[in-house]
Amino acid sequence: MIKRTISCSPTQYNWILKVLFWRRGLYPPPPGESDIIGLEVAGTVDSLGPGVKTNWKPDERVMALLSGGGYAEYVAVPEELLMPVPSNLTLCQAAAVPEAWLTAFQLLDFIGTVKEGEVVLVHAGGSGVGTAAVQLVRLFGAVPVVTAGSPEKLKMAEKLGAAAGFNYKEGSFAKGVHDFTGGKGANVILDCIGGCNWEQNVSCLAVDGRWVLYGTMGGRSVDGDLLGKLLSKRGHLLSSLLRSRSLQYKANLVKAFSRRVLPHFSDQSASLKPVIDSTFSLEDIAEAHRHMEANRNMGKIVVNVIPQKQETQ
Ligand SMILES: NC(=O)c1ccc[n+]([C@@H]2O[C@H](COP(=O)([O-])OP(=O)(O)OC[C@H]3O[C@@H](n4cnc5c(N)ncnc54)[C@H](OP(=O)(O)O)[C@@H]3O)[C@@H](O)[C@H]2O)c1
Repeated sequence: MIKRTISCSPTQYNWILKVLFWRRGLYPPPPGESDIIGLEVAGTVDSLGPGVKTNWKPDERVMALLSGGGYAEYVAVPEELLMPVPSNLTLCQAAAVPEAWLTAFQLLDFIGTVKEGEVVLVHAGGSGVGTAAVQLVRLFGAVPVVTAGSPEKLKMAEKLGAAAGFNYKEGSFAKGVHDFTGGKGANVILDCIGGCNWEQNVSCLAVDGRWVLYGTMGGRSVDGDLLGKLLSKRGHLLSSLLRSRSLQYKANLVKAFSRRVLPHFSDQSASLKPVIDSTFSLEDIAEAHRHMEANRNMGKIVVNVIPQKQETQ
């Protein structure tokens, strides 16, 4: 075991986002990280490595962000990246929290600096990150609007707090945002789509708006007057990747998230909820991947790596 890490076992649920990119070789692990897939886990503490300074105890329920290696019964986690599982969440629900919610929080708070009353356009509003982002935008007192590719996903986003939703397959989301904002546009755009949407994004960005790019599911190339249009809006084009960040950055993120967001999963109104699309056992992993590749999931797909009969919580 590595110094100052904590090993989690064995009731562990893992998440499979990024698997597709991994399988296609488009998302290699940062140098020195495991090439086993799986970026987040929930489970119980098994043992503490030498030098651990925090007060985690064996059997405590925890969840963690990883740089890889989550498809396993045991993982060693730097203590700074461990979070307690909120009391009213199951381990399965908790497994859906670390990466999607820390990503959404990082994009909205650290990168996009969303302020009360601002309008935030969240693309892929039915996705893992999207469903977290919609709820966080509401928590921050701002106004989420979303795009999605089906009426079911739009409906779910609206249930989570989206003030409006636009089916990008049926018409211009930029027009929808213009109409919703009385022509002002969105103050912040959370964009995991990229290329194919650039023109609509810049068109519905508010003056001085922040366009936060964190994925390129809709392509990487841009052909046209992006810079001129962005300049005319005095727009800020920002981008971020979480996985390649330093341990210190992630530790700061986990700390800020634990203080500002985590209590809202278990407060009286329990205002935040991880959205689970489905749970698969490890034996059915191929089916889980097919489900994700078909874009059928609404929220997160969780993989249980231990046989059901050994499951304790
Ligand atoms: N930068 C970072 O640090 C970071 C961290 C985490 C995730 N990400 C990225 O964030 C993205 C979303 O992750 P996730 O876990 O939330 O994904 P997810 O739950 O698997 O959802 C992805 C959804 O995106 C939509 N989509 C896919 N291709 C599209 C396209 N060409 N145009 C429009 N919509 C498309 C689909 O929904 P519809 O049916 O609505 O089209 C799909 O269900 C991924 O690209 C991932 O790599 C980045």
